[in-house]
Amino acid sequence: MARLDPHSYTDDQQPQTRALEWHAKVDFSTRILDCEAALTFEQPGEGPLELDTRELRIQSVTDAAGKPLGFSLEAAEPVLGARLRIQLPPGTRTIRIRYQTSPGASALQWLTPAQTSGGKQPFLFSQCQQIHARSIIPLQDTPRLRIRYRAALTVPAPLEAVMAAAQVSREEKDGWAVKRFEMPQPIPSYLIALAVGDLKAKEVGPRSQVWAEPSLLEQAAWEFGQVEDMIRAAERLFGPYDWDRFDILAMPPSFPYGGMENPRLTFLTPTLIAGDRSLVNVVAHELAHSWTGNLVTNASMEHFWLNEGFTVYAERRLVEALYGKDTAALQASLGRRSLDEALEHLKEHPEWTKLRTHLQGTDPDEVFSSVPYEKGFLFLRALEEAAGLEAFDRFVRGYVKRFAFQSITTEDFLAHVEKELPGVLAQVNAPAWVHDAGVPANAPVPRSAKLEALEKHGPQAPDEATVASWSPTEWQLYLRRLPHPSPLAFCEALDQRFHLTQSRNHEVLVTWLELAAQSGHAPALPRLEQELAEVGRMKYLRPLYRTLARIDPARARSCFERCRASYHPIAQQVVEGLLKKQAG
Ligand code: BES
Ligand code: ZN
Repeated sequence: MARLDPHSYTDDQQPQTRALEWHAKVDFSTRILDCEAALTFEQPGEGPLELDTRELRIQSVTDAAGKPLGFSLEAAEPVLGARLRIQLPPGTRTIRIRYQTSPGASALQWLTPAQTSGGKQPFLFSQCQQIHARSIIPLQDTPRLRIRYRAALTVPAPLEAVMAAAQVSREEKDGWAVKRFEMPQPIPSYLIALAVGDLKAKEVGPRSQVWAEPSLLEQAAWEFGQVEDMIRAAERLFGPYDWDRFDILAMPPSFPYGGMENPRLTFLTPTLIAGDRSLVNVVAHELAHSWTGNLVTNASMEHFWLNEGFTVYAERRLVEALYGKDTAALQASLGRRSLDEALEHLKEHPEWTKLRTHLQGTDPDEVFSSVPYEKGFLFLRALEEAAGLEAFDRFVRGYVKRFAFQSITTEDFLAHVEKELPGVLAQVNAPAWVHDAGVPANAPVPRSAKLEALEKHGPQAPDEATVASWSPTEWQLYLRRLPHPSPLAFCEALDQRFHLTQSRNHEVLVTWLELAAQSGHAPALPRLEQELAEVGRMKYLRPLYRTLARIDPARARSCFERCRASYHPIAQQVVEGLLKKQAG
């Protein structure tokens, strides 16, 4: 036996699931999914089968004909959850499990009507990456395996249900609606996704629609309306789009990430809706995952940089193709700053700043940082420079084609580079990039005219003429380069001239609030607390809680107690950990 993924009980000697048939009835009053899951194996098998579960109430396990099978649910391990062990009689091809989820299922967030923008209907959504699919379905929860699935969600008839899959049908009966889905492309389990709420869709392209709550729909459809141009640009760079549709779901503000690359239906935070399309690099990022991540998938979280570093690289290539070199370089420069900050925060865990990590016994949500994203990006840029752009472009297309619908390790990647671009790994000293902590001194540095202009500009307050040409990215770079704290009078003057505390752009706003609050600018604190109350995106929660806790630990604590229930379970855990660390 071999357990090849440190975050799963999956044993590669046991039958491997190839298909899932899932029925779930969504009960908003108890916050429980009442479910049946049928798992079908690659081949008929026998003997023990080990599945991942977390907080599931298993009611029965049977074979396809309904004959009960012996099973035992072990005590839960802190990171992995509880192992479900089932005895398969010889020749078992399909098993059926009846079960219920728990109200605290780590993949789910249940929102009251008051937590939605419409205010009338409740909302439910899932977030299965990294290892939360097991809290809604008992399965082999590892990206080493791929499954196709069919699903039926039973939801209150006034609500719409969506999944990251093809929609098949919707029928209403006795106040309930049954919505059926089919996922024809095989996917790793972390890409299973659903949402239920008052949702409407608007067509924005030949293979794309935007879903949102009705009051948000027009704005969301406009903000993300250029997606077809993006898909075409991406196809030119990375090869054909293999997922038929690219739809978008604008999430409620408590969504803990900027975006999630759920196949055929990307989930996006509503904080991207800035009214000027200035944050669509996140759309480019999630779209790019259609190749890097969803086609070529990391074999485990120890190779997470293959998903995210590659996708940041692809995202910036897309941004460059669509918006020009300057824009891509400015965003890369911002990425470098967030990498340096992450290295600073991870001082006590240098092993988490390696690209290839070892995570036995470690919760993957705990090690999440910019490192796999931005260090991975720089490594790929270094390879690109060494190979030459044209050769590297060919390499990327070939890589995607070679490993499409497969899961690979860092070692597989390196072997493929050596084969296709011999000598290039040695040229950039790849082992240091992959196996050492920190960032090699020879890392590529983004360059552009606009970046040089910003560097020349220095810390003095900009004039209106300068600012007229600044994008939100330039504002962020300018603000981040200022001394923290800065003189109070300087911050007051900046705010008076440029109304930063009122910025509609959440990236600029959060960057500003960090600086202004530290500098003692009085209006910053209430705005910071308001942002913490309204938005659950972890990228903002982390710096804002850190800032608040540094100024006034008790105020940070009480703010968290007030807001906590509105955050996603993963976000609650992250803020809890951060406040504890800062207090200790
Ligand atoms: N797949 C990630 C989100 C994620 C990572 C969820 C790890 C759970 C665990 C997504 O593609 C992502 O990276 N989102 C970023 C976008 C940014 C890098 C442009 C985000 O959420 O900020
Ligand atoms: Zn990503």
